[in-house]
Amino acid sequence: MEPKEESINAMEALSPVLVVAGARPNFMKVAPIIHALDSARIRRILVHTGQHYDAQMSDTFFAELGIPAPDRHLGVGSGSHAAQTARIMEAIEPVLLETRPRWILVVGDVNSTLACALVAAKLRHSIGCRIAHVEAGLRSNDWSMPEEVNRVLTDRLSDLLLTPSPDAEPNLLREGIEAERIVFVGNVMIDTLLRMLPGARAHDAPRRVGIGGSPFAIATLHRPSNVDSPTTLRPILMALGALAVSMPVVLPLHPRTRQRVEEFGLGSLLAPLKATPPLGYTDMLGLQSAASVVITDSGGVQEETTVLGIPCVTLRETTERPITISVGTNRLAPWPLTEDGIVATVRAALEQGPVPVGARAPAGWDGRASQRIVEALRNHTNVA
Ligand code: UD1
Repeated sequence: MEPKEESINAMEALSPVLVVAGARPNFMKVAPIIHALDSARIRRILVHTGQHYDAQMSDTFFAELGIPAPDRHLGVGSGSHAAQTARIMEAIEPVLLETRPRWILVVGDVNSTLACALVAAKLRHSIGCRIAHVEAGLRSNDWSMPEEVNRVLTDRLSDLLLTPSPDAEPNLLREGIEAERIVFVGNVMIDTLLRMLPGARAHDAPRRVGIGGSPFAIATLHRPSNVDSPTTLRPILMALGALAVSMPVVLPLHPRTRQRVEEFGLGSLLAPLKATPPLGYTDMLGLQSAASVVITDSGGVQEETTVLGIPCVTLRETTERPITISVGTNRLAPWPLTEDGIVATVRAALEQGPVPVGARAPAGWDGRASQRIVEALRNHTNVA
């Protein structure tokens, strides 16, 4: 149904909500937020920073998740943290000055998240915009992770902190953030998962990647702390190879990981694995939902396996998503990572088998987080 002319005019009179998307894990969070803003007829501007730019890392997700074309594309591309963050800051500033949004909404913990929040914080008083952070309050307490720096600083800069799980609020309160700025909205990435799951199951991804109907494992690897040194990358790939003796192991290769495998001359360790290019959302979700075990260093995959009830082994020292461990789907491999430690943890996870998550599913991981985000924006126009 088309909005009446006077309501279009009223809507246009309000300054817009500017939504930032930059890297692959942002797209599944931004999709339901854009759809919810559009359903509520709230004027919005979608900005893609271009932090991720390959078709397989970006365009595929826009197409599969039905995200409209960005209104602005900043085209920043790859670079060192300083160069990438600086380029995003320089490019978003004129967009904010021109569009004067009432809200700038940033998601997750990537460089685009912090860069845009930082510029908005400096312009907040001159253009009257407020900053909302979706996925606020997660903490690994590991300051060697660039994402931890991005999370803590983005939260400190934000007016409205939209949390995905109950563990997040105490983290924010401990850092001195006022309770009235914090709103528990649940996990918006799960809105996308629940919407896409029936289609993903019907898509038969295992057969499409050539592993038929037998039990299999899927692994994802991209953390600099795991892949940027042969000392860590080699034992991880050897552990996956040992596992591949008993079941196929699918390894969609992130561009960073592919580059490092080549650079370190570790290509032969991929031979026992079913290495693929980065997968689209539907294939990845279909594979996760059918896997016997998932091995990962991604934050989002830890959450997706929790909703799916699939055992997950996380290749990190800590997780900023402890709820995935308390629900019972996720476990950390012993640190520092070794081939034997990873293999033993994966075997324990396989023995455990699928986890009947049912009523233990985290509160707010219910497919309606994007609606609660829109409500929170409406209700909190008066925060400082
Ligand atoms: C970024 C995020 C990380 C997130 C991950 C998901 C930060 C600090 N890191 O890490 O939190 O989990 O995305 O993928 O924001 N490259 C391509 N094509 C692309 C994008 C990147 O080939 O479309 C290559 C480039 O060589 C680049 C490297 O991958 O240098 C790493 O990309 P970058 O965006 O710097 O970090 P990610 O490791 O992807």
